[in-house]
Amino acid sequence: MDAFVIYGGRRLNGRVRINGSKNASLPLLAASLLTDEPVILRDVPDLADIRNMIRLLRSLGCEINRDETAPGKPLTIQVTDTSNSFAHYDIVRTMRASICVLGPLLGQRGFGEVSMPGGCAIGDRPVDLHLRGFEALSAGIHLESGNIIAKAPAPGRLIGGSMFLGGPFGSTVLGTANVLCAAVRAKGTTVIESAACEPEIVDLANMLTKMGAKIVGAGSPRLVIEGVDRLGGVDHTVMADRIEAGTYILASAITNGNIVLENCPMDSLAAPLFRLAQIGVDVESVGCNGNDHPLDDATIRLSTDNGNPRLNKSNGNGNGSGNLIDPMRQTVRVTSNRRLDPIQMVTQPYPGFPTDLQAQLMALLCLADGNSVVTEKIFPDRFMHVPELLRMGAKLYRNGASVLISGVRELIGAPVMASDLRASAGLILAALAARGMTTVHRIYHLDRGYERMELTLRQLGADIERVDEEELNKRSISVPGLASAVA
Ligand code: EPU
Repeated sequence: MDAFVIYGGRRLNGRVRINGSKNASLPLLAASLLTDEPVILRDVPDLADIRNMIRLLRSLGCEINRDETAPGKPLTIQVTDTSNSFAHYDIVRTMRASICVLGPLLGQRGFGEVSMPGGCAIGDRPVDLHLRGFEALSAGIHLESGNIIAKAPAPGRLIGGSMFLGGPFGSTVLGTANVLCAAVRAKGTTVIESAACEPEIVDLANMLTKMGAKIVGAGSPRLVIEGVDRLGGVDHTVMADRIEAGTYILASAITNGNIVLENCPMDSLAAPLFRLAQIGVDVESVGCNGNDHPLDDATIRLSTDNGNPRLNKSNGNGNGSGNLIDPMRQTVRVTSNRRLDPIQMVTQPYPGFPTDLQAQLMALLCLADGNSVVTEKIFPDRFMHVPELLRMGAKLYRNGASVLISGVRELIGAPVMASDLRASAGLILAALAARGMTTVHRIYHLDRGYERMELTLRQLGADIERVDEEELNKRSISVPGLASAVA
């Protein structure tokens, strides 16, 4: 098991290119089950979750190869064997997103079996809405030995239907992706009300449309899908990762740094940019498509204007090809005020502030000049970072789904424990700003969603090192008793 050792206090400076989105890639990979032709996916990040999904798809009969030399390191996925449609617990327990193979299996093969995902550090995370959607497409669903078994009605094809996919916390992202993938192959028309509007769903709908699907309304809460008899192959570039981009923007802000992000999906970041502007963090476009364009009259600024992001028009192809300004693939510069203002923020489904940036924002607000309030409306218990930030000298008071953050002058390095992917990112950001040394244990959570974050941060000037826990113990820089807690 690895840990990060971080000496805080260095201002980040330099350039970083944002990777393809993890949360877009997972359903896109699963959607490759919908055709027997090759699916080529570019810019898929090399992460633990992606490797697990590849392992799962191989077990479901896909041949998968990655070309490490071509642009976007394309992954080619081709279904060659349809004899196994069971996603085994061994893989599902490593990654909840395994559930999103069920829709494609059901749509294409008329049958699928997926081990029921359990809870995780951020909450219970039920899948009832996914199942409600499949049932609305006339699938028979039952649970046996901890596995969800789903079957299309005879003769093996789903039937389009209308459904409401809203739950107690709003729409469901993977639920929408799952049901969408089933509906594109159903007979007739499907209407999904309260569909998730996340950009990752739009990316999925774009790819499915290129494969021959008929989808109207992607990005809105009402999706209308006309089922088709077959889908073909596709060559698709995954959207840039808005959460990775937000994390590096916040890393720059918390160190009072000055960094440039390439391939930044500005058009998907309106709520975070609005909040950042209120705090005193400016994110300004300096070009697009990973190329530099000097700021001149021809370059439309994406800078926040009194807290309102001014987003320019694009041709909407999302590929960054040919157009001068593609708001999903911008080059931006991040600068911030020395004095950060406190804010009130509530996480919400898109286009609201994403829950996946809540922990990182909280780390920043620990250093704001005054009291902030963060309320978590998607996963009300997603606060595993709170007790760890307290260990670093933060002043946080949790009341249910809200945390009052009373800004402090400085954070102090300490050994802390990562508990989930985004909590880990929040702790690393706090460590970058803290005085002295922080050891962040259980970094495998972070590796699920960020590609070699320590290399990127080091390239930006951070003093950060990945160390094996055993090596740490040998160096005796772990606190007494921590080694046994980790084991
Ligand atoms: N929910 C239900 N029933 C369901 C499904 C969801 O009640 O059947 C509830 C959840 O418990 C939660 C809310 O609905 O309270 C939203 O959950 P959602 O289904 O949208 O989450 P998800 O699709 O399982 C994706 C991301 C998460 C991200 C959430 C919310 C992927 C692989 N995961 O999860 O990302 O937090 O949407 O935006 O896309 C992460 O990247 O760190 C991460 C956890």
